Amino acid sequence: MNHKRLMTSAVAFLMGASFLTACGTDTATPTVTTGGATGAATVAATSATGGAATGGLPKLAKKDTYTVGFSQTVSDNPWRLAETKSMQDEAAKRGWKIVVTDAGGSAAKQVADVDTLIAQKVDAIFLAPQEEKPLVPAVMKAKAAGIPVILLDRTVDQTQAQGGRDYVTFIGSDFVEEGKRTAEWLIKKTGGKATIIELEGATGASAATDRKTGFDTAIKAEAGMKIVASQTGEFNRDKGRQLMQTLLTAHPDVTAVYAHNDEMAVGAITALEAGGKKPGTDVIVVSVDGEKDGLQAIVDGKLGATTECNPRFGPKAFDTLVAYANNPASVPAKIINPDKFYDETNAKDNLAGAY
Ligand code: AHR
Repeated sequence: MNHKRLMTSAVAFLMGASFLTACGTDTATPTVTTGGATGAATVAATSATGGAATGGLPKLAKKDTYTVGFSQTVSDNPWRLAETKSMQDEAAKRGWKIVVTDAGGSAAKQVADVDTLIAQKVDAIFLAPQEEKPLVPAVMKAKAAGIPVILLDRTVDQTQAQGGRDYVTFIGSDFVEEGKRTAEWLIKKTGGKATIIELEGATGASAATDRKTGFDTAIKAEAGMKIVASQTGEFNRDKGRQLMQTLLTAHPDVTAVYAHNDEMAVGAITALEAGGKKPGTDVIVVSVDGEKDGLQAIVDGKLGATTECNPRFGPKAFDTLVAYANNPASVPAKIINPDKFYDETNAKDNLAGAY
Protein backbone atom coordinates (compact mmCIF):
# COMPACT_ATOMS: atom_id res chain seq x y z
CA MET A 1 0.00 0.00 0.00
CA ASN A 2 1.55 3.31 -1.04
CA HIS A 3 1.69 6.27 1.35
CA LYS A 4 -1.17 8.19 -0.27
CA ARG A 5 -3.50 5.19 -0.18
CA LEU A 6 -2.51 4.43 3.40
CA MET A 7 -3.37 7.96 4.51
CA THR A 8 -6.61 8.03 2.53
CA SER A 9 -7.84 4.76 3.95
CA ALA A 10 -6.74 5.76 7.44
CA VAL A 11 -8.78 8.96 7.26
CA ALA A 12 -11.78 7.14 5.78
CA PHE A 13 -11.57 4.45 8.40
CA LEU A 14 -11.23 6.85 11.30
CA MET A 15 -14.25 8.78 10.11
CA GLY A 16 -16.31 5.61 10.22
CA ALA A 17 -14.91 4.07 13.38
CA SER A 18 -16.18 4.80 16.86
CA PHE A 19 -14.11 4.81 20.06
CA LEU A 20 -16.55 4.53 22.91
CA THR A 21 -15.90 4.23 26.63
CA ALA A 22 -15.96 1.56 29.33
CA CYS A 23 -14.07 0.91 32.56
CA GLY A 24 -13.66 -1.71 35.28
CA THR A 25 -11.96 -4.91 36.35
CA ASP A 26 -9.81 -7.66 34.91
CA THR A 27 -9.76 -11.44 34.42
CA ALA A 28 -7.49 -14.33 35.30
CA THR A 29 -5.44 -16.36 32.79
CA PRO A 30 -6.82 -17.49 30.39
CA THR A 31 -10.53 -16.76 30.55
CA VAL A 32 -13.40 -16.92 28.13
CA THR A 33 -16.26 -14.48 28.08
CA THR A 34 -19.44 -15.16 26.19
CA GLY A 35 -22.20 -12.61 26.28
CA GLY A 36 -20.81 -11.11 29.46
CA ALA A 37 -20.20 -14.29 31.48
CA THR A 38 -16.60 -15.00 32.41
CA GLY A 39 -15.33 -18.51 33.19
CA ALA A 40 -12.60 -21.10 32.63
CA ALA A 41 -10.92 -21.55 29.26
CA THR A 42 -13.38 -23.90 27.61
CA VAL A 43 -13.71 -22.42 24.15
CA ALA A 44 -15.12 -24.92 21.68
CA ALA A 45 -12.59 -25.79 19.00
CA THR A 46 -13.94 -23.62 16.22
CA SER A 47 -11.78 -23.78 13.13
CA ALA A 48 -9.62 -20.84 12.13
CA THR A 49 -11.65 -19.23 9.39
CA GLY A 50 -8.97 -17.99 7.05
CA GLY A 51 -6.79 -21.04 6.42
CA ALA A 52 -3.00 -20.87 6.23
CA ALA A 53 -1.47 -17.66 4.97
CA THR A 54 -0.12 -17.89 1.46
CA GLY A 55 2.39 -15.10 1.39
CA GLY A 56 -0.14 -12.45 2.38
CA LEU A 57 -2.30 -11.94 5.41
CA PRO A 58 -4.74 -14.63 6.54
CA LYS A 59 -8.31 -13.90 5.51
CA LEU A 60 -11.17 -13.73 7.96
CA ALA A 61 -14.47 -15.31 6.92
CA LYS A 62 -17.60 -13.17 7.28
CA LYS A 63 -19.57 -14.53 10.22
CA ASP A 64 -22.20 -13.27 12.64
CA THR A 65 -20.06 -14.03 15.68
CA TYR A 66 -16.41 -14.78 16.25
CA THR A 67 -14.22 -16.29 18.95
CA VAL A 68 -11.33 -13.90 19.48
CA GLY A 69 -8.26 -14.03 21.67
CA PHE A 70 -6.97 -11.04 23.61
CA SER A 71 -3.38 -11.38 24.78
CA GLN A 72 -2.94 -8.86 27.58
CA THR A 73 0.54 -8.01 28.76
CA VAL A 74 -0.08 -7.44 32.48
CA SER A 75 -2.98 -6.58 34.78
CA ASP A 76 -1.30 -4.63 37.56
CA ASN A 77 -2.62 -1.17 36.86
CA PRO A 78 -5.89 0.66 36.10
CA TRP A 79 -4.90 1.29 32.48
CA ARG A 80 -4.56 -2.42 31.73
CA LEU A 81 -7.71 -3.28 33.66
CA ALA A 82 -9.66 -0.66 31.69
CA GLU A 83 -8.29 -2.02 28.40
CA THR A 84 -9.26 -5.61 29.23
CA LYS A 85 -12.72 -4.58 30.41
CA SER A 86 -13.30 -2.55 27.26
CA MET A 87 -12.49 -5.63 25.16
CA GLN A 88 -14.71 -7.90 27.25
CA ASP A 89 -17.58 -5.42 27.24
CA GLU A 90 -17.46 -5.12 23.48
CA ALA A 91 -17.42 -8.91 23.04
CA ALA A 92 -20.40 -9.21 25.35
CA LYS A 93 -22.25 -6.48 23.48
CA ARG A 94 -21.82 -8.33 20.19
CA GLY A 95 -22.34 -11.85 21.58
CA TRP A 96 -18.81 -12.90 20.60
CA LYS A 97 -16.54 -15.14 22.65
CA ILE A 98 -13.31 -13.66 23.95
CA VAL A 99 -10.41 -15.62 25.42
CA VAL A 100 -8.25 -13.36 27.60
CA THR A 101 -4.70 -14.27 28.55
CA ASP A 102 -2.48 -12.33 30.96
CA ALA A 103 1.28 -12.51 30.48
CA GLY A 104 2.05 -11.07 33.91
CA GLY A 105 4.55 -8.63 32.39
CA SER A 106 6.65 -11.41 30.82
CA ALA A 107 7.30 -11.36 27.07
CA ALA A 108 8.19 -15.07 27.18
CA LYS A 109 4.89 -15.91 28.88
CA GLN A 110 3.08 -13.80 26.29
CA VAL A 111 4.65 -15.80 23.45
CA ALA A 112 3.34 -18.95 25.15
CA ASP A 113 -0.07 -17.29 25.59
CA VAL A 114 -0.29 -16.62 21.86
CA ASP A 115 0.61 -20.29 21.27
CA THR A 116 -2.33 -21.22 23.48
CA LEU A 117 -4.68 -18.98 21.49
CA ILE A 118 -3.44 -20.50 18.23
CA ALA A 119 -3.95 -24.02 19.63
CA GLN A 120 -7.51 -23.04 20.57
CA LYS A 121 -8.08 -22.01 16.95
CA VAL A 122 -9.54 -18.62 17.74
CA ASP A 123 -10.75 -16.70 14.69
CA ALA A 124 -8.48 -13.71 15.34
CA ILE A 125 -6.01 -12.48 17.94
CA PHE A 126 -5.84 -9.02 19.50
CA LEU A 127 -2.31 -8.68 20.84
CA ALA A 128 -1.02 -5.98 23.21
CA PRO A 129 2.72 -6.75 23.00
CA GLN A 130 4.79 -6.47 26.17
CA GLU A 131 7.97 -5.83 24.20
CA GLU A 132 8.74 -5.02 20.56
CA LYS A 133 11.23 -7.74 19.59
CA PRO A 134 10.27 -10.92 21.51
CA LEU A 135 6.69 -10.87 20.24
CA VAL A 136 7.62 -10.88 16.53
CA PRO A 137 7.76 -14.72 16.38
CA ALA A 138 4.30 -14.90 17.97
CA VAL A 139 2.90 -12.62 15.25
CA MET A 140 4.55 -14.74 12.56
CA LYS A 141 3.29 -17.98 14.07
CA ALA A 142 -0.31 -16.73 14.11
CA LYS A 143 0.06 -15.61 10.50
CA ALA A 144 1.38 -19.04 9.50
CA ALA A 145 -1.55 -20.65 11.32
CA GLY A 146 -3.98 -18.55 9.27
CA ILE A 147 -5.12 -16.38 12.19
CA PRO A 148 -5.28 -12.61 11.62
CA VAL A 149 -3.61 -10.50 14.32
CA ILE A 150 -4.45 -6.93 15.29
CA LEU A 151 -1.89 -5.18 17.51
CA LEU A 152 -3.36 -3.02 20.24
CA ASP A 153 -1.61 -0.18 22.07
CA ARG A 154 2.01 -1.27 21.60
CA THR A 155 3.69 -2.40 18.43
CA VAL A 156 6.34 -4.99 17.48
CA ASP A 157 9.72 -4.42 15.84
CA GLN A 158 8.92 -2.76 12.52
CA THR A 159 12.10 -4.01 10.85
CA GLN A 160 10.84 -7.58 11.31
CA ALA A 161 7.04 -7.42 11.08
CA GLN A 162 4.72 -4.90 9.47
CA GLY A 163 1.06 -3.97 9.38
CA GLY A 164 -0.75 -5.04 6.23
CA ARG A 165 1.83 -7.76 5.63
CA ASP A 166 2.44 -9.76 8.82
CA TYR A 167 -0.39 -8.49 10.99
CA VAL A 168 -3.57 -6.70 9.97
CA THR A 169 -3.01 -3.36 11.63
CA PHE A 170 -1.77 -1.52 14.70
CA ILE A 171 -4.31 0.47 16.70
CA GLY A 172 -2.94 2.79 19.36
CA SER A 173 -1.62 6.16 20.42
CA ASP A 174 1.34 8.04 18.99
CA PHE A 175 3.73 7.53 21.91
CA VAL A 176 6.38 9.87 20.50
CA GLU A 177 3.78 12.62 20.34
CA GLU A 178 2.72 11.86 23.93
CA GLY A 179 6.31 12.39 25.15
CA LYS A 180 6.58 15.56 23.09
CA ARG A 181 3.35 17.10 24.36
CA THR A 182 4.28 16.31 27.95
CA ALA A 183 7.70 17.96 27.48
CA GLU A 184 6.20 21.04 25.84
CA TRP A 185 3.91 21.60 28.82
CA LEU A 186 6.85 21.19 31.21
CA ILE A 187 9.04 23.59 29.23
CA LYS A 188 6.30 26.22 29.40
CA LYS A 189 5.60 25.62 33.07
CA THR A 190 9.26 25.81 34.13
CA GLY A 191 10.28 28.58 31.75
CA GLY A 192 12.69 26.16 30.10
CA LYS A 193 14.72 25.50 33.24
CA ALA A 194 14.47 22.17 35.06
CA THR A 195 16.60 19.44 36.64
CA ILE A 196 14.66 16.37 35.56
CA ILE A 197 14.39 12.79 36.78
CA GLU A 198 12.78 10.47 34.22
CA LEU A 199 10.96 7.33 35.30
CA GLU A 200 10.84 5.11 32.24
CA GLY A 201 8.28 2.46 31.38
CA ALA A 202 9.08 -1.22 30.84
CA THR A 203 12.33 -1.71 28.94
CA GLY A 204 11.78 -2.91 25.38
CA ALA A 205 8.15 -1.67 25.25
CA SER A 206 7.38 0.73 22.41
CA ALA A 207 5.47 2.91 24.89
CA ALA A 208 8.67 3.46 26.88
CA THR A 209 11.05 3.82 23.94
CA ASP A 210 8.85 6.25 22.04
CA ARG A 211 7.76 8.36 25.04
CA LYS A 212 11.44 8.85 25.83
CA THR A 213 12.22 9.76 22.24
CA GLY A 214 9.41 12.31 22.09
CA PHE A 215 10.35 13.94 25.39
CA ASP A 216 14.11 13.99 24.70
CA THR A 217 13.57 15.47 21.24
CA ALA A 218 11.35 18.24 22.58
CA ILE A 219 13.78 19.35 25.31
CA LYS A 220 16.89 19.08 23.12
CA ALA A 221 16.80 22.69 22.05
CA GLU A 222 16.26 23.90 25.63
CA ALA A 223 19.67 24.44 27.24
CA GLY A 224 18.10 24.76 30.69
CA MET A 225 16.25 21.42 30.62
CA LYS A 226 18.56 18.67 31.92
CA ILE A 227 17.74 15.03 32.57
CA VAL A 228 20.02 14.00 35.45
CA ALA A 229 18.74 10.42 35.82
CA SER A 230 16.61 8.11 33.69
CA GLN A 231 15.76 4.58 34.81
CA THR A 232 12.91 2.11 34.44
CA GLY A 233 10.11 1.90 36.98
CA GLU A 234 8.38 -0.66 34.72
CA PHE A 235 5.10 1.30 34.52
CA ASN A 236 4.44 0.18 38.11
CA ARG A 237 3.33 2.43 40.97
CA ASP A 238 5.41 0.91 43.74
CA LYS A 239 8.47 0.45 41.55
CA GLY A 240 8.11 4.11 40.59
CA ARG A 241 7.95 5.05 44.28
CA GLN A 242 11.03 3.00 45.17
CA LEU A 243 12.99 4.31 42.20
CA MET A 244 12.08 7.92 43.01
CA GLN A 245 13.17 7.38 46.60
CA THR A 246 16.59 6.17 45.44
CA LEU A 247 17.03 8.84 42.77
CA LEU A 248 15.95 11.62 45.11
CA THR A 249 18.78 10.71 47.46
CA ALA A 250 21.24 10.93 44.56
CA HIS A 251 19.68 14.11 43.11
CA PRO A 252 18.15 16.20 45.91
CA ASP A 253 18.24 19.23 43.60
CA VAL A 254 15.58 17.72 41.29
CA THR A 255 12.94 20.22 40.16
CA ALA A 256 10.90 18.09 37.74
CA VAL A 257 9.88 14.46 37.25
CA TYR A 258 8.77 12.97 33.95
CA ALA A 259 7.09 9.61 34.53
CA HIS A 260 6.09 7.50 31.51
CA ASN A 261 2.74 6.74 33.14
CA ASP A 262 0.45 8.03 35.88
CA GLU A 263 1.03 5.00 38.10
CA MET A 264 4.74 5.78 38.41
CA ALA A 265 3.95 9.49 38.79
CA VAL A 266 1.65 8.75 41.73
CA GLY A 267 4.38 6.53 43.23
CA ALA A 268 6.93 9.31 42.71
CA ILE A 269 4.66 11.84 44.41
CA THR A 270 4.52 9.58 47.48
CA ALA A 271 8.33 9.30 47.52
CA LEU A 272 8.80 13.05 47.07
CA GLU A 273 6.48 13.78 49.99
CA ALA A 274 8.26 11.19 52.14
CA GLY A 275 11.53 12.88 51.20
CA GLY A 276 10.31 16.28 52.37
CA LYS A 277 9.55 17.76 48.94
CA LYS A 278 6.29 19.40 47.95
CA PRO A 279 5.14 18.03 44.57
CA GLY A 280 3.58 20.77 42.48
CA THR A 281 5.71 23.43 44.17
CA ASP A 282 9.28 22.17 44.79
CA VAL A 283 9.07 19.54 42.07
CA ILE A 284 6.79 19.64 39.00
CA VAL A 285 5.63 16.13 38.09
CA VAL A 286 4.28 15.26 34.62
CA SER A 287 3.19 11.98 33.10
CA VAL A 288 1.08 10.11 30.54
CA ASP A 289 -2.24 8.18 30.67
CA GLY A 290 -5.05 10.20 32.24
CA GLU A 291 -6.16 7.60 34.78
CA LYS A 292 -8.45 8.57 37.66
CA ASP A 293 -5.66 8.77 40.27
CA GLY A 294 -3.64 10.90 37.86
CA LEU A 295 -6.47 13.35 37.34
CA GLN A 296 -7.13 13.43 41.08
CA ALA A 297 -3.45 14.24 41.67
CA ILE A 298 -3.81 17.19 39.27
CA VAL A 299 -6.92 18.38 41.15
CA ASP A 300 -4.89 18.06 44.39
CA GLY A 301 -2.13 20.20 42.88
CA LYS A 302 0.47 17.41 43.05
CA LEU A 303 0.64 16.36 39.38
CA GLY A 304 1.19 19.13 36.84
CA ALA A 305 -0.22 17.51 33.70
CA THR A 306 -0.77 14.19 31.99
CA THR A 307 -1.11 13.43 28.28
CA GLU A 308 -3.93 11.02 27.64
CA CYS A 309 -3.31 7.49 26.36
CA ASN A 310 -6.76 5.99 25.87
CA PRO A 311 -7.04 2.29 26.95
CA ARG A 312 -10.64 1.80 25.79
CA PHE A 313 -9.94 -0.10 22.60
CA GLY A 314 -12.96 -2.42 22.49
CA PRO A 315 -15.31 -0.73 20.01
CA LYS A 316 -12.60 0.33 17.59
CA ALA A 317 -10.77 -3.03 17.76
CA PHE A 318 -13.92 -5.04 17.01
CA ASP A 319 -15.10 -2.62 14.30
CA THR A 320 -11.71 -2.98 12.65
CA LEU A 321 -11.91 -6.77 12.65
CA VAL A 322 -15.35 -6.69 11.05
CA ALA A 323 -14.10 -4.21 8.45
CA TYR A 324 -11.22 -6.59 7.74
CA ALA A 325 -13.57 -9.53 7.20
CA ASN A 326 -15.75 -7.46 4.87
CA ASN A 327 -12.97 -5.82 2.89
CA PRO A 328 -9.32 -6.35 3.91
CA ALA A 329 -8.15 -3.48 1.68
CA SER A 330 -10.26 -1.01 3.68
CA VAL A 331 -8.12 -1.42 6.80
CA PRO A 332 -5.01 0.78 6.94
CA ALA A 333 -1.75 -0.63 8.31
CA LYS A 334 -1.81 1.80 11.23
CA ILE A 335 -4.69 3.48 13.09
CA ILE A 336 -3.67 6.23 15.49
CA ASN A 337 -5.95 7.15 18.38
CA PRO A 338 -6.39 10.82 19.17
CA ASP A 339 -5.25 11.72 22.71
CA LYS A 340 -6.50 14.49 24.99
CA PHE A 341 -4.36 16.46 27.43
CA TYR A 342 -5.16 17.10 31.09
CA ASP A 343 -3.94 19.84 33.41
CA GLU A 344 -5.49 22.08 36.05
CA THR A 345 -7.85 23.59 33.48
CA ASN A 346 -9.81 20.37 32.79
CA ALA A 347 -8.79 17.55 35.17
CA LYS A 348 -11.76 18.03 37.50
CA ASP A 349 -14.28 17.97 34.66
CA ASN A 350 -12.89 14.68 33.36
CA LEU A 351 -12.54 12.92 36.71
CA ALA A 352 -15.94 11.22 36.71
CA GLY A 353 -15.38 9.52 33.35
CA ALA A 354 -11.85 8.37 34.16
CA TYR A 355 -10.81 4.75 34.92
O1 AHR B 1 1.50 0.90 26.60
C1 AHR B 1 0.75 1.81 27.32
C2 AHR B 1 1.21 1.87 28.73
O2 AHR B 1 1.17 0.60 29.31
C3 AHR B 1 0.37 2.73 29.63
O3 AHR B 1 0.80 4.03 29.67
C4 AHR B 1 0.66 2.08 30.94
O4 AHR B 1 -0.07 2.58 32.01
C5 AHR B 1 0.52 0.68 30.57
O5 AHR B 1 0.99 -0.30 31.43
